[in-house]
Amino acid sequence: MSFNTIKYMEWAKTHYKNLDSSILDFSISGMPPPADNLLELGIDFHELTLARDNSYGYKPLREAIAARYGVDYEQVLPTIGSSMGNFIFYASIHRPGKSILLESPVYECLKGPIEGFNMKAIPLPRYESRAWQFDVDEAVALAEEHDALAIVLTNPHNPSGVFTEESTIQELAEKMGDRWLLVDEVYREWVPDQRGRTSAGRHPRIVVTSSLTKVWGLGQLRVGWMIAPKEFIHRSQHTYDHMAVIHPIEADWLGHQLFAKPGLLDKIRENMLRKISESREIVDSFLEKHRELGVESQMPDSGAVALWQFRDNDGDQLANKLEKEAGITVVPGSFFAANDHVRVSWTNTAAHIDKVLDRFSKWIIKQA
Ligand SMILES: Cc1ncc(COP(=O)(O)O)c(C=O)c1O
Repeated sequence: MSFNTIKYMEWAKTHYKNLDSSILDFSISGMPPPADNLLELGIDFHELTLARDNSYGYKPLREAIAARYGVDYEQVLPTIGSSMGNFIFYASIHRPGKSILLESPVYECLKGPIEGFNMKAIPLPRYESRAWQFDVDEAVALAEEHDALAIVLTNPHNPSGVFTEESTIQELAEKMGDRWLLVDEVYREWVPDQRGRTSAGRHPRIVVTSSLTKVWGLGQLRVGWMIAPKEFIHRSQHTYDHMAVIHPIEADWLGHQLFAKPGLLDKIRENMLRKISESREIVDSFLEKHRELGVESQMPDSGAVALWQFRDNDGDQLANKLEKEAGITVVPGSFFAANDHVRVSWTNTAAHIDKVLDRFSKWIIKQA
């Protein structure tokens, strides 16, 4: 077993610290925090009493997550971000030498554990020409050919941002036979009509992971969860015993406060969606003006990330030039196996995105 450095993670954790303060961000995939501190959200940590039972998950939090997503509380496992849910998924099903079918382009952290557990990642293409969707029949054929233990997707997709309709996920689950389907839904509630929606509970082989990181801007709190069939949750609880024994009660309690305060998560989400749509208008008007100058993208209908291309630059070159010459930072697509692209994001305020795109525009003019 060998868990190699996740290059994207190393980049994400060091890049911003070393960045000149004059460089403007056009790269971060999660919303900024909704408040400066917890009191502003109506949460007082002094109320956290220590004698609570959270063996195998704090029941009030499990119930609150279950209520939002329309499942039974026994189908919910609180995790440290969706990242831990993804790791627990792989740790729970792994069999060395076997294959996992994994979407490509891909968020690198979904690939690392496959290799770490001595399994093989088989790429499932998402096609730019089809707005970054995959083909269900191709997925089924590849899974059969490689006898894959599981198929792994993000929905919406990181890095392209596109959403795959529930009917497609269900069709895949129905056709894939006796495999697992992991759907990382950490961006799902960015889609306006997807409040409280999930693929979990709709098919006995679907496992979903998510968290309050991206849509709610609360990543530092590490409130995440897995939703899966009860037997899979039992299996995952036993996997968790190898990792941290019990979940931190601070995270459980906080998560419960956030989920249980009437309207709190919905209010934060609505504000975030409003901000995204204001920034998106600026992005769309930039694209309208610059497409014929060589900026290309299959833009998602919702959310706040996308893959962009500029003329014949590869993604690494473009990211480098944008940072050095235009003063904008984006993510090189090579971290996602999307080498010809960069990933951009408009999670920041409209005023910020306006400045970013003004710089981008001036830089393009100089490229003539
Ligand atoms: C698809 C995907 N899953 C999970 C994560 C990490 O989320 P969390 O903070 O919930 O662990 C990210 C972060 O970029 C992501 O893009």
